[in-house]
Amino acid sequence: MEEKSKILIIGATGFLGYNLAETSLKFGHPTFALVRDSAFSDPIKSQKLQFLSHAGATLLKGSLQDEASIVDAVKLVDVVICAVSSKQTLDQKLLIRVIKQLGTIKRFVPSEFGSDPIKARVTELDDGYNFYAPKIEIRRLVEAEGIPYTYISCNFFMKVLLPSLAQPGLEAPPRDKVTIFGDGNTKAVFMKESDVAAFTISAVDDPRTLNKVVYLRPPGNVYSLNELVEMWETKIGKKLEKLHVLEEELLTKINGTSFPSNSKMLFIYSAFIKGDHTYFDIESSSGVNGTELYPQLKYTTVSEFLDTLI
Ligand SMILES: *[C@@H]1O[C@H](CO)[C@@H](O)[C@H](O)[C@H]1NC(C)=O
Ligand SMILES: *[C@@H]1O[C@H](CO)[C@@H](O)[C@H](O)[C@H]1NC(C)=O
Repeated sequence: MEEKSKILIIGATGFLGYNLAETSLKFGHPTFALVRDSAFSDPIKSQKLQFLSHAGATLLKGSLQDEASIVDAVKLVDVVICAVSSKQTLDQKLLIRVIKQLGTIKRFVPSEFGSDPIKARVTELDDGYNFYAPKIEIRRLVEAEGIPYTYISCNFFMKVLLPSLAQPGLEAPPRDKVTIFGDGNTKAVFMKESDVAAFTISAVDDPRTLNKVVYLRPPGNVYSLNELVEMWETKIGKKLEKLHVLEEELLTKINGTSFPSNSKMLFIYSAFIKGDHTYFDIESSSGVNGTELYPQLKYTTVSEFLDTLI
C-alpha cells in the first residue's frame, strides 16, 4: 500500500481549516497544524485544538510571520494546505519562499477555496475590495517558483449564503417574500465545508490533480436563485412573494457600502448575476472535475441542506 503523505494545515482553527485537519486525520494522513500562540488561550480555538490533538494531530506553535516556525513545520511534511482568511492571502508569501528554498514539498494548496479568481468577472469592482487580486498574485508566485500545486475551486460554502437563500440581512430562509437578484436564472454552486475538505484531502496525493485547478460543481449543488426559491417553496408548501433587484440597483447598493459589509451582495453579484461559478467549461489543460475524479465521495446536496432548515 502506498504510504499516506504527511500534511501540514495552516489555519486549522478556522472553519474550513478545522474540517481539513479532521478529514486529513480521518483519511489516515499524519497531520500537523501550525498554530499561533494566542489560539491556545482563545476558548473556542483551544477547544478545537484539543479535539484535533486527541484525534492524533501534532500541534506546532508558529505563524505565517515567523520564518523559523514555518521552516521547522514544512520540514516535517510532504504537503502544505493553507486555509487562512482572505485578508491574510498575501501573508502566504513567506511560506512560499520557505517551500521553494526547502524544495521538499510534493504539493501546496494555497488558500483559495472560493470561485476561481482568474475566471471572476467582477475585476472592475475588485479594485475597491481587493478579494481576487491577491489570490491571483499568489498563484503567479507559486507558478513562477515552480512549486507543485493544486488549487481548489469550491465556489460558495453552504453556510455563507444558503441558510438565508441568498438574502442579505437574513439568517434563515424567508417564509413570506424573497428578493431575486437579476433575472434569477444564473446558476451558482454551494458546497458543504466538510465535503470541500474531503475532496481537497483526496486531491493532494493524486497525480491527476498536480498543477491543476480542482473544480467542485457536483450535480445536486448547482442552482439558480429561481430554482432555489422553487425548491424551498415546495419544501414549505407555500409560494413566496417575489421582489426584484436588477443588476444596476445591486451595483448601486454595493457601491454605497464598503467591504466587508457589502461582501454578501458582492458574492451574490459575482455568482448570481455574472455567473462566475458556472459560465465556463473546465479546460482539461488547467483544470479537472473533482466530482468525476472521486465518485466514491458522498456529499451534501443543496436539497439535503435545505431540509435541515424547514
Ligand atoms: C459601481 O462602481 C464600479 C466601480 O467603480 C463602476 O464601474 C460602476 O459603474 C458603479 N455602478 C453603479 C451603478 O454605481
Ligand atoms: C463533473 O462530473 C460530474 C460527474 O461525472 C458531472 O455530473 C458534472 O456535470 C461535471 N461537471 C462539469 C462542470 O463538467
